[in-house]
Amino acid sequence: MKMLKLILVAPLCFAASVVSGVTFGCKQACLELSNFDVSRSTGNTALSSLWSNFQAEVEPECRLVPRHNRDVAEILRVIRKFNCHFAVLGGGTSPFKGASNADAGITIDMQSLRDLDVVDGENAHVVVGAGNLWAHVYAALAPFNMSATGTRNSLTGVIGSILGGGILFFSEAHGWACDTVIEFELVLANSSVILANEHQNPEIFWALRGGGNNFGIVTRVSIEAFKNPPTWYTFQRFSPDHMDLVFNRLEAHTNSMPNDVCQIAVTFQWHVPTDQFVVSERMVAYELPELPEILWRKDSQGKLEPVSVLQTVSYQRSILAMAEKMDQMNPHGFFNLFGSLTVYNDSDLFTMLARVFMAEIEHIKTIEGLQVYIVYNPLTSKALSHMQKRGGNALGLESRDGPLTIININLHWSKQNDNDQMYVFMRNLIKGLRSTAVQKGLLHPYLFQNHAFEEENLFDGYGVVNVGRLRTLQKILDPDRVFQALQPGGFKLWADQVDDAQWDKSEL
Ligand SMILES: *[C@@H]1O[C@H](CO)[C@@H](O)[C@H](O)[C@H]1NC(C)=O
Ligand SMILES: *[C@@H]1O[C@H](CO)[C@@H](O)[C@H](O)[C@H]1NC(C)=O
Ligand SMILES: *[C@@H]1O[C@H](CO)[C@@H](O)[C@H](O)[C@H]1NC(C)=O
Repeated sequence: MKMLKLILVAPLCFAASVVSGVTFGCKQACLELSNFDVSRSTGNTALSSLWSNFQAEVEPECRLVPRHNRDVAEILRVIRKFNCHFAVLGGGTSPFKGASNADAGITIDMQSLRDLDVVDGENAHVVVGAGNLWAHVYAALAPFNMSATGTRNSLTGVIGSILGGGILFFSEAHGWACDTVIEFELVLANSSVILANEHQNPEIFWALRGGGNNFGIVTRVSIEAFKNPPTWYTFQRFSPDHMDLVFNRLEAHTNSMPNDVCQIAVTFQWHVPTDQFVVSERMVAYELPELPEILWRKDSQGKLEPVSVLQTVSYQRSILAMAEKMDQMNPHGFFNLFGSLTVYNDSDLFTMLARVFMAEIEHIKTIEGLQVYIVYNPLTSKALSHMQKRGGNALGLESRDGPLTIININLHWSKQNDNDQMYVFMRNLIKGLRSTAVQKGLLHPYLFQNHAFEEENLFDGYGVVNVGRLRTLQKILDPDRVFQALQPGGFKLWADQVDDAQWDKSEL
């Protein structure tokens, strides 16, 4: 594979230069497209409303609601003609400013592309239009006692989560959302509508499974469906004094997940209402799993001492009910930041990372409307093995990388005045977590796109070979850089290092 040398001649920030230069173009483009459903409303542009204030406070020049993939192609044609920047709105739950709502540009609101066809039988699958949220997919599959691999929140858009990866309660058995895709329909930069599957445009099919919004506008996907009876969800709370015992369990489960357990995760939270740290373990299983009433700690003489569990709750629910419950934990109307890193499975490291988190929290405890927690998500060797399905995905992870743990940081607050401080907090927290993992030699370079901090060089973590392959494809499909320059929201393949000298079309 031929790799480009990334020599930085002159830094060039596309997003900024484009935004200031094309406002006039966007007015013209909106005028030319005025036969579409056009709305100038701010904030309330999504199906419910945009989740994060960072997105909700953005005002597009116009919002367009395509009713067919042909409409998307036509909008893209006009966008190119007038060089107007844009964003594609699905669920709108990315906290990134501009990811799904274009500041003074065109927001393409997919909400009318709502087809949803369930195909039952041996190769059960569901065909999903790009305007659907996972809530719609789960609800459509429920009468068949089936589900599909989406996300743990119901209000997330289907396409955005698939393009980034997508983790669900059932990823151990079925893989990540991107690994369950059978086919994409998408509109390319030149407005051609194509299909990508294992046999037709397989390179595009590979790239879309993890490559983000760098290749086209996806208008429809087919994804696998599976039998999914009501499931047990358990919650156990422990004192943070005993987090090492909880993390020992997590390490053991990550290395060898009990057969009947679908998923396990540990949350470490600064609980604002009670002014304390809380550590909790969640399990998902079809049969009610055995839950310990006590854990055992060895004292200095090697004698076992009992440690009690503070709280145990278990309930049987449908996936939709559970995802809606998760939504309540992440309400809209706040400023949000995400962060993520990936580490090898090691309980001492998990404890050290929790201590870094505890120390950093000291700086922000008094912030108004604060909610902050980290979630340790095992990525077992079995879950990783699904990543080879249908030619594999673009994420650059293999079974032999595992088992891994993806640590996601969730942060929200109320006041715009605190934004700068919260960015500083997030940068310091990620830096502290990362350097701790590096010291132990247990940092993995992969970053989970759906939850990564917006300042990361995300694609570096996919590995040199995969980034080269993604960039080569990007140049072939989109030589004029429509999805790099005109769609600034989200992780871009050429984020930092683009300059015109390097953009040599003769490479193609
Ligand atoms: C779904 O499951 C319920 C309860 O187990 C059962 O009564 C119903 O017949 C099932 N429906 C289908 C379509 O399999
Ligand atoms: C955690 O994973 C590593 C491989 O990365 C493995 O060597 C180790 O044994 C695992 N820990 C446990 C407790 O099994
Ligand atoms: C659009 O781009 C694709 C991918 O580069 C190419 O195969 C196709 O021929 C182009 N279509 C038109 C109408 O130019």
